[in-house]
Amino acid sequence: MGRRHVLLGSAPVRSLPDYVAAGGGSALALADRLGAAGVLDELELSGLRGRGGAGFPVSVKWRSIAGGGPEAGERFVVANGAEGEPGTFKDRFLIAHNPYQVIEGLLIAARVVGARRALLAVKASFTAEAARLTDAVAEISRAGWSAGIGIELVLGPEDYLFGEEKALLEVIEGGDALPRQLPPYLHGLFTAGPRLGWSTHASAAGASADAANPTLVNNIETLSAVPVILREGGEWYRSLGTAESPGTIVCTVSGDTARHGVDEFELGTPLDEIIDTLGGGLPSGHRIGFVLPGISSAAIDAGAIGVAASYEGFAAAGSALGTAGFIVFDERTDPLELAAAVARFLARASCGQCPACKLGCERIAELLADGRNRPLEVPVLARRLETVTDAARCYLPFQCQAVVSGLLPRLRTARRSGPARALELSPIVGYVNGRFRYAETDRPTTGFRPA
Ligand SMILES: Cc1cc2nc3c(=O)[nH]c(=O)nc-3n(C[C@H](O)[C@H](O)[C@H](O)COP(=O)(O)O)c2cc1C
Ligand code: SF4
Repeated sequence: MGRRHVLLGSAPVRSLPDYVAAGGGSALALADRLGAAGVLDELELSGLRGRGGAGFPVSVKWRSIAGGGPEAGERFVVANGAEGEPGTFKDRFLIAHNPYQVIEGLLIAARVVGARRALLAVKASFTAEAARLTDAVAEISRAGWSAGIGIELVLGPEDYLFGEEKALLEVIEGGDALPRQLPPYLHGLFTAGPRLGWSTHASAAGASADAANPTLVNNIETLSAVPVILREGGEWYRSLGTAESPGTIVCTVSGDTARHGVDEFELGTPLDEIIDTLGGGLPSGHRIGFVLPGISSAAIDAGAIGVAASYEGFAAAGSALGTAGFIVFDERTDPLELAAAVARFLARASCGQCPACKLGCERIAELLADGRNRPLEVPVLARRLETVTDAARCYLPFQCQAVVSGLLPRLRTARRSGPARALELSPIVGYVNGRFRYAETDRPTTGFRPA
């Protein structure tokens, strides 16, 4: 356990010849020799799980897209580099470090599922990463690796929902970041017929109205792991990490620690070790109060700080590993302010297609804000937390439910004496002198900001 470089090397990879010198490209050649079935078997053996937050088994997803025969329609593959989760900066780091590895993984995915178009989606504001990808695509195409597969870069909006896979497909088709009804394997890109979605599209010439065009969406880190797994073997990858969480994970540490950082660790490494290694402890006189793993799952209390950073470890602690973006809050943090900051962020991000989500997140944020000055209306809050997910198209309101419900026992008992630190959550936009910089929102913020 501990720090372990599998996806990340000692220094950023500057050119395609440098990547090839380090073994790059051999996985693509191997994938051609193994064929789709061989690659899928190797991925199954590796036990690789998606790193976009849910930890879904990669071989299962790839098989479902590859299956279904020609009548299911065209196949597409998409690399999700939208990275908008507060506390997470690892996809941008991976792209900056080695864009060739991401593209090699994407091309292997395209060959396995039979896609002729492969898309790389990042926010338009990620200018340095977009430039790295553009240059790498040009080099890879000149070298003939793409073998007839068109690789396109998609520059998307700032919306948090841009990273949600059903909204991502809408953006790729030229729409807004509004999640549609059906998942990408049932309603993929550029379908011809109505598919019960946010919108339908005009028939493409010759396309069957029933074709679902199953589309594979994988996170940048997930795709980066694929060439390494093929090169070193599924069995080798499975020998790292734990039985239920094989391999490594690229972690981000931010918040009240002395410094911030991104690095790769074997899954199962204790959370406190990751925080110490990347964060260098807390400034003197302070200690950890809570750790929030992104804004998708319950906070980890200081008492559970030694939890294994694995899918099963975090589940046993009543939380979820998510994207391994750990936001550290010190002992001065009021759980009410933390819950309110998360609810406010999600209420702003909610698109409003599902009323229970938009109105519910807003009401939860209001109830928590009111709790600053008068006793918290716990029964009303608990009821709203129950119904906020009603008829939800996407997972966003479940995030609100998970984080606020997780803090609720503390909210019931917390005694407030005097003004607390106001908090504001915001995505990371850069890294300067060992600390992250954060996006400006409508309020001044440093990601989380002392009042
Ligand atoms: C509100 C919301 C935002 C999301 N943002 C991202 C994101 O920025 N990047 C990402 O890879 N996945 C994001 N996801 C998860 C994707 O929907 C999807 O599950 C993931 O890209 C699948 O890749 P994986 O199987 O490789 O993990 C988000 C999900 C939700 C509900
Ligand atoms: S659940 Fe919320 S964020 Fe997701 S589509 Fe519905 S309203 Fe939009």
